[in-house]
Amino acid sequence: MRELINVIGLGYIGLPTALMMASKGLQVTGTDYDAKKVQNLQHGHLTFEEDGLQELYQKALENGITFTEEYQEADIYIAAVPTPFDKTSKKVIADYLIRAIENILEKCKKDSVIVVESTISPGTIDNYVRPLVDRENKEHNKAIQISHAPERIIPGKMVEELIHNNRTIGADSPEIAERIRKIYASFCQGDIVLTDIKTAEMSKVVENAYRDINIAYANELVKICKEAGVDVYELIQIANKHPRVNILTPGPGVGGHCISVDPWFLVGDYPGLANIIYAARKINDSMPEYVLKRISELMEQEKIESVKRVGLYGLTYKENVDDVRESPTLQLLENMKHHLATGIKVYDPYIREDMVENQYHDFHEFIKEIDLLVVMVGHDEIKEKADEIKDKVILDTRNVITGSRVFRL
Ligand SMILES: NC(=O)c1ccc[n+]([C@@H]2O[C@H](COP(=O)([O-])OP(=O)(O)OC[C@H]3O[C@@H](n4cnc5c(N)ncnc54)[C@H](O)[C@@H]3O)[C@@H](O)[C@H]2O)c1
Repeated sequence: MRELINVIGLGYIGLPTALMMASKGLQVTGTDYDAKKVQNLQHGHLTFEEDGLQELYQKALENGITFTEEYQEADIYIAAVPTPFDKTSKKVIADYLIRAIENILEKCKKDSVIVVESTISPGTIDNYVRPLVDRENKEHNKAIQISHAPERIIPGKMVEELIHNNRTIGADSPEIAERIRKIYASFCQGDIVLTDIKTAEMSKVVENAYRDINIAYANELVKICKEAGVDVYELIQIANKHPRVNILTPGPGVGGHCISVDPWFLVGDYPGLANIIYAARKINDSMPEYVLKRISELMEQEKIESVKRVGLYGLTYKENVDDVRESPTLQLLENMKHHLATGIKVYDPYIREDMVENQYHDFHEFIKEIDLLVVMVGHDEIKEKADEIKDKVILDTRNVITGSRVFRL
């Protein structure tokens, strides 16, 4: 009998993971409490776009993957539910995870393993998951085990990275770690490192804090260089000639579900110790406001009188994806509410539904209405349309457009 894997949460992480496992011949059921999502998947419709996902979906369907709203009586559970942070305490909000674990425990059989894939702050499993599992084991003699297998994949390259990234698996014993390793090894060609649960929890948030700090360094240089009258992009190019220096590219802020969220867990749990991590978060969160300042400066310089003649290109948090979570453009629009002027126009080729005020769905309509174009996201589309925006004043926060009237951060 093949083991049944029940993937809980069919979002950006759970869905590709479930499809990947099924495509490799594992027996998989994907479960989500969002009825519409489940219905779409049951009826042949993917719920988001991603390179290679359609092919994976077809293969998984051929191999018998099923989708349900009900938790299954399975051997392995993989929980990929949201783990946001509390904006005040900065700590992880474990409510989705707790609910998922409670539902799993109602269904699961003896000796099953619950793998938490969600990103969690160090100690989350000991504080929230283990007490529930221990109680169930004691009351119903079930011997359920826990593992943590944090996910590193990035939107835009999810399928490729699922196969090629290295992974970390945390478990309470080498036997359980090995049982889970075998499942991931069915598709993962990277190294799979086995460790304890807390180290696995810590590794994921530390990796994202590292990325955040490095981005913050580039963003801090933008502000220093502006003050000093130095071109930050040229400066970074020169500095990166040093054999041991690799400064990242600055930008309008950090969005997405990982880098802009996970470092906060360490700030919330280790106040007074996570100092660089905290400073980096503040610098990156200040960038949308900095872009607003640059917009005002350029409007004055180029005699653009109304913010209604300004257009933000891009709503997503990175190029060529449809994920808008925590995006710098949304942060900027939120900040704008505190300023008197409104009416700024917005367009993103990847966002088809109406999400914000004054949003356009046609590039030409959008361009017609504006004099100052602010490139917030470097989608391929805007690079390809460089000819069509030649007559505009451009604030290019991503350094992807060239031209005489192009200004940078
Ligand atoms: N998106 C990324 O790029 C990324 C990368 C690495 C890690 N992660 C982590 O993976 C986890 C999941 O993120 P995501 O981006 O897939 O989130 P998501 O919001 O795209 O998907 C989560 C899904 O879980 C479902 N859900 C929530 N609670 C449930 C429950 N109790 N039972 C059943 N379904 C439930 C929701 O309906 C939703 O479909 C998070 O911890 C996140 O930090 C995300």
